Amino acid sequence: MRRKIVAANWKMNGSEGFAKSLISELKVQLSVLDKDVKVVIIPPSLYVAEVKRLVSDAPFAVGIQNVAQWNQGAFTGEISAGMAADVGCEYVLVGHSERRQLFAESDQVVAEKVQQVLKSGLVALVCVGETLAERQAGQAEEVVSRQLQIALQGLASDKWNKIVVAYEPVWAIGTGKTATAEDAQAMHLHMRGVLGSLGAPASDISLLYGGSVKPENARELFGQQDIDGGLIGGASLLADDFASICRAV
Ligand code: PGA
Repeated sequence: MRRKIVAANWKMNGSEGFAKSLISELKVQLSVLDKDVKVVIIPPSLYVAEVKRLVSDAPFAVGIQNVAQWNQGAFTGEISAGMAADVGCEYVLVGHSERRQLFAESDQVVAEKVQQVLKSGLVALVCVGETLAERQAGQAEEVVSRQLQIALQGLASDKWNKIVVAYEPVWAIGTGKTATAEDAQAMHLHMRGVLGSLGAPASDISLLYGGSVKPENARELFGQQDIDGGLIGGASLLADDFASICRAV
């Protein structure tokens, strides 16, 4: 189902104390948020269960930043999608560019992780996006098409309601540089076309934008026809900024 979503990707930041104070601040600041907006908190895995407990009296969902491409076994240090579901996670980030670049996750591995997430009944928040070199070479659409095609090909028709896609141009992540609202909208429209060609009910899928979203640029980005919300990194660590971004959707 297409809905407005704002997801907070804390990355490898925070602590138990940080989680407590940020969540309690967000509960106050977002107490009157539009019911159509889904807020998803994605802390480091170790804090997922605690954050789940902290949001038990708030309409926030909880996600995890990564899961393994396997369901169980001798994979020291890994966490399965089933375990994430077991502690109350609803969303899983898959294929974030930091995973692709720093942990050598290929398109194929991303596809395997999507399958694990869907098997566990969770929502896969699939991240795609081109690097600066790819954009400058005029390959942005081609790269994003390939990432979507490999990650989502052959999905059964009843699984698409568990897919959310985030377009995050790599050059915009944590750099303070944001895609213009027009460029982001153009890519989102392109992605709907690709999703449609994969058999998805493309107009029903939530497409988020991520990459240096801030209170100052959120409204313009989220005002675009095909942008249904955001995946927020740095600004999600600051209660005032994140709350203001949520209100901009
Ligand atoms: P940023 O990160 O908002 O800090 O650019 C976004 C992301 O990586 O999800």
